[in-house]
Amino acid sequence: MRKKIVAGNWKMNNNLEAGIKLAQEVLEKATGNEEAQIVLGTPFIHLNKLAESIVGKKGIEVAAQNCSDKASGAYTGETSAEMVKSTGVNYVILGHSERREYFNETNQELAAKLDLALANNLVPIFCCGEPLEIREKEEHYAYVKQQLTESLFHLSANDFAKTVIAYEPIWAIGTGKTATSAQAQEMHAELRNHLADHFGQELADTCPILYGGSCKPSNAQEIFAGADVDGGLIGGASLNADDFLAIVNSF
Ligand code: PGA
Repeated sequence: MRKKIVAGNWKMNNNLEAGIKLAQEVLEKATGNEEAQIVLGTPFIHLNKLAESIVGKKGIEVAAQNCSDKASGAYTGETSAEMVKSTGVNYVILGHSERREYFNETNQELAAKLDLALANNLVPIFCCGEPLEIREKEEHYAYVKQQLTESLFHLSANDFAKTVIAYEPIWAIGTGKTATSAQAQEMHAELRNHLADHFGQELADTCPILYGGSCKPSNAQEIFAGADVDGGLIGGASLNADDFLAIVNSF
C-alpha cells in the first residue's frame, strides 16, 4: 500500500498570528485517524513555531515551500535545506510552478535542491506539471517526463524512495478548472511507468504521486479515486481548516 498524503500549500498567505491560528484549528479538528498523512506547507516564518506546537501531534507534519540550491554562504535572502531542517520540520515543497515561473527555477537547479533536501533528511515534495499550451499541443506527457528525468533521475534508489511527487497541471492551479479524474489518473500512471523504467517497478510502486490544481471538498473524492492518485497538494482550499480536512478525508 502506498502512503496517502494531503499537503496544504498556503503560498504567501497568513502572517505569523494567522498561520498559527489556522494550524491550531487544523490540529483541534483533526481526529488523528485521518485517511491521509497531513502536511501543512507554510511560509518560512511559521516553521519553527509550528515545529514546536504542531509537528508530530495527531501525525501532522509541516513543510517549507522552498529551499536554496546552495548549501550555505553569501546568498542574501535565501534559506538553506539545513536551516529548514533545523527548525524541526521534516518536509519541503520543491519546484512549484510559481517558483519555476516567477523565480526562474530550472530542472537542473531543482536537482540540486533535491540533493540538499535529501542530504538534510527532509522529505521533498517535488512538483511537476505542464502549461496549457503544452497540453493543447498534446506534448504534456513528454514535458512532465522530462521534468522528472532532469531533476530526479540522478538520485540513488535510497533517496528516490524518500521522495514524493506532486503533479500539478499549471492550467488548473488557482483557476477553478481541475483536471478530470481521468486526466489525472492517465498522467499519474504515465509518470509511474516512467519512474519504473528508471528506478524499477517496485520503487515506482511505492512513490506517492499527489494531484494539485483547484482541488476542493466537492471534487477531491473523484480525483483521489484514480488508482495512481495518492493524495493532493492543496492551495486555496488549504486556507480553511474545514475544507482542508474534508479533502484529507476524501479517499
Ligand atoms: P490551488 O493550488 O489548489 O489553489 O489550485 C494548488 C497549488 O498551487 O499547489
